[in-house]
Amino acid sequence: MRTQVGIVGAGPAGLTLAQLLHRQGIESVVLENRSREYVEHRVRAGVLEQGTVDLLVEAGIGERLQREGLVHHGIGIQFDGERHRIPLSELTDGRTIVVYGQTEVVRDLVRARLAEGLPLLFEVADVRVHDLDTDRPGIRFTHDGAEHALACDVVAGCDGYHGVCRPSIPAGVISEFSREYPFGWLGILADVAPSNDEVVYAHNERGFALLSMRSLELSRLYVQCRPDEDLAEWPDDRIWEELQLRLGLEGWTLHEGPVLERGVTGMRSYVAEPMRYGRLFLAGDAAHIVPPTGAKGLNLAIHDVRVLAEAIVAWYRTGSTTLLDAYSDACLRRVWRAEHFSWWMTSMLHRLEHDDDFGLKLQLSQLRYVTSSHAAAVSLAENYVGLERV
Ligand code: FAD
Ligand code: DHB
Repeated sequence: MRTQVGIVGAGPAGLTLAQLLHRQGIESVVLENRSREYVEHRVRAGVLEQGTVDLLVEAGIGERLQREGLVHHGIGIQFDGERHRIPLSELTDGRTIVVYGQTEVVRDLVRARLAEGLPLLFEVADVRVHDLDTDRPGIRFTHDGAEHALACDVVAGCDGYHGVCRPSIPAGVISEFSREYPFGWLGILADVAPSNDEVVYAHNERGFALLSMRSLELSRLYVQCRPDEDLAEWPDDRIWEELQLRLGLEGWTLHEGPVLERGVTGMRSYVAEPMRYGRLFLAGDAAHIVPPTGAKGLNLAIHDVRVLAEAIVAWYRTGSTTLLDAYSDACLRRVWRAEHFSWWMTSMLHRLEHDDDFGLKLQLSQLRYVTSSHAAAVSLAENYVGLERV
């Protein structure tokens, strides 16, 4: 088998890259080790920056997103028993965010690719990338019990944080920067209309909580928990009780409903530099992770593949490697801005177990500042909706 671009991973990064390349007449093969059912039901991110929405629309897969996505003009920040609104659009020349689940983005991309009869293989196993430092890199894998070899011009490592591409880079090439957080998020999808029409980030002495949604009928909620929290210890009643305690406000009701899905996510900041080795280009979570506070992970993944697709197209059209050579640096500028923003939002909003009252006072002071100072609110808002230039 031969293709132009071999893509490992059918998450948002891999699938969007394949779509962008296809629109420019470049062939690719996407290899995914999970089933279609699994990738289409893995509940994760939900907030899309306007730049992400624009790209998906331009890439020809935004039709349902434009119809069903919920356009939001602000977010809530809650602390000390009060909810404050950050009017994102007012503060950023009219920019907006769109609430549309990552599962829906993945479904739209998978459907578009399969409808065109383009190669996207699920449930591949034993994926190995090789000859990355030559101009004939390749991917070996098994599928339906048979061993396959795929020769490529370029390999795109879009296989997430636990993938095989980054670990295939020889030791010493990549520098890693990371931070672990001593907490996680317990997230639920609930069959109840969202109790607020905008996303609310809540600081509370019991720990952080987040109110979000997936549609006008489905709520998505999170509570800060231990990183190794045992879900068995969280029957529905306990989850709702904790959400009520952390999100509750005088004169406002958090409506409860059946829990459709639940999971615990650990939190990490991580960056691998450079995002390239020879003909292997890393994109999305394969190269960097942010803690979810601030909703940047998915948006960064989409930005990476926009830059990568443009570079690959330019290389095929002109033979020039200028954009490919600039890929890693171009992405890392935005990655580090998002790393800082996500770390900052996380530090400001979560209960730090070993923190003293000094830490708590600093958090509250910062929260008061971003909800009362125009300059501070603009800074939060422009990062949240996604900076046009970094
Ligand atoms: P992924 O979505 O991880 O896709 C990688 C794909 O590669 C997967 O389909 C995987 O199965 C596949 N793969 C892995 N190894 C191999 C292999 N060896 N061979 C073939 N395929 C392979 N972000 C937010 O903004 N808000 C959130 O609430 C949020 N929640 C999250 C919850 C969890 C549990 C996780 C893990 C992440 C969450 N994120 C969240 C981050 C966001 O979902 C990611 O940033 C986004 O999925 C990145 O897309 P990606 O395509 O780079 O990676
Ligand atoms: C959602 C996730 C986030 O990480 C966030 O910051 C806001 C919303 C969500 O899943 O809806």
